[in-house]
Amino acid sequence: MATSVVGLDIGHGVLRAAEVAGGSTAKPRLMKYHEVTFPADATHEGEVVEQDVLVRALKQLWAAGKFKTRDVVLGVGNQRVLTRDLSVPKVPLDRIKEALPFQVQDLLPIPVSDAVLDFYPVAEAQGESGPVIQGLLVAAAKSSVLANVRAVQAAGLNPIDVDLTPFALTRALLAGGGTRGTVALIHVGATTSCIVIATDGVPQFVRIIPSGGEEVTTALVNGIGMTPADAERTKSTMGLVREAYPPELMAACETTIRVTEDLLGSLRNTVAFYRNTRPNDPITNVVLTGGGSRLRGFPAALEEVTRLQVELGDPTSRFALAKAIDIHSLPSVLPAMGVALGLTLRAAS
Ligand SMILES: Nc1ncnc2c1ncn2[C@@H]1O[C@H](COP(=O)(O)OP(=O)(O)OP(=O)(O)O)[C@@H](O)[C@H]1O
Ligand SMILES: [Mg+2]
Repeated sequence: MATSVVGLDIGHGVLRAAEVAGGSTAKPRLMKYHEVTFPADATHEGEVVEQDVLVRALKQLWAAGKFKTRDVVLGVGNQRVLTRDLSVPKVPLDRIKEALPFQVQDLLPIPVSDAVLDFYPVAEAQGESGPVIQGLLVAAAKSSVLANVRAVQAAGLNPIDVDLTPFALTRALLAGGGTRGTVALIHVGATTSCIVIATDGVPQFVRIIPSGGEEVTTALVNGIGMTPADAERTKSTMGLVREAYPPELMAACETTIRVTEDLLGSLRNTVAFYRNTRPNDPITNVVLTGGGSRLRGFPAALEEVTRLQVELGDPTSRFALAKAIDIHSLPSVLPAMGVALGLTLRAAS
């Protein structure tokens, strides 16, 4: 049997794990998927703050999920991750990566020695002194990555790789030959959202936005005095749909709309920025994922502000599903599965 790995997504109060066999083949197989919750303040924007809490949740996840491997790939993706355009002379990729620390200090706001660096090739071109590879430089603060790696090790697991979550999402939703043309992948999480603009499945542009569905919940709790559970329930029921609600709920409706407008504005501005910088590369449509995108009326509102057709992404579509996967339970978790699934495809794209 092909060896498998687990893609581990540390979300806002939820751990998601997907075990995949054949992650570098044309038809990877999703063997197992499981989620457990934990107190959300044990992490801050995806970074582990209270290791003990995470270790307990990870052990619970492994006990309940019955995964066949302890090899995990971790995601990293909050606003402490930077991506920059970078052109380098054309040499093999491993040599480009080796040389990064000596080339990129000017592009970073933190010392190179405190950063984990990676390079993602996008295209080849002819530079002034020979062929170059144009790509995306990715830099993450070591401290944030290490806290998560240590928590995973302390739970008896074996972190074999760390990858940027927007790239993982791209592999699950856009790569694999299924998507032609230039598409904007928009993923709305709880505290972090991201946009990847990819051509024929290859990321050209990545932007991470420190905002998501949790901002609405917080506004309902702090501004209106709801309990967090009430706020979640009210938000999921009302969404952005303005109806004749009782007066006490009208304020919640207005708050949800107002707070979400800020996020929609950031997404619209990001799409506009790409359109302005690459006028010859029109975006054809949006693929939308992430739990925050389930807010009623959000896809339509996004269509309106971006003037692009929005389709809901299915991160499992590239995968064969093993018998252990209960398809009936998938729809409720589907929008948020993309990161865990995409992390298992590290070697595939
Ligand atoms: N039906 C729904 N209506 C409105 N919002 C929803 C719905 N379902 C989930 N959400 C919101 O989606 C957000 C969670 O999204 P997701 O699960 O993708 O985030 P996460 O991965 O846990 O967090 P992050 O990626 O920011 O670390 C929460 O703010 C939640 O309230
Ligand atoms: Mg997430």
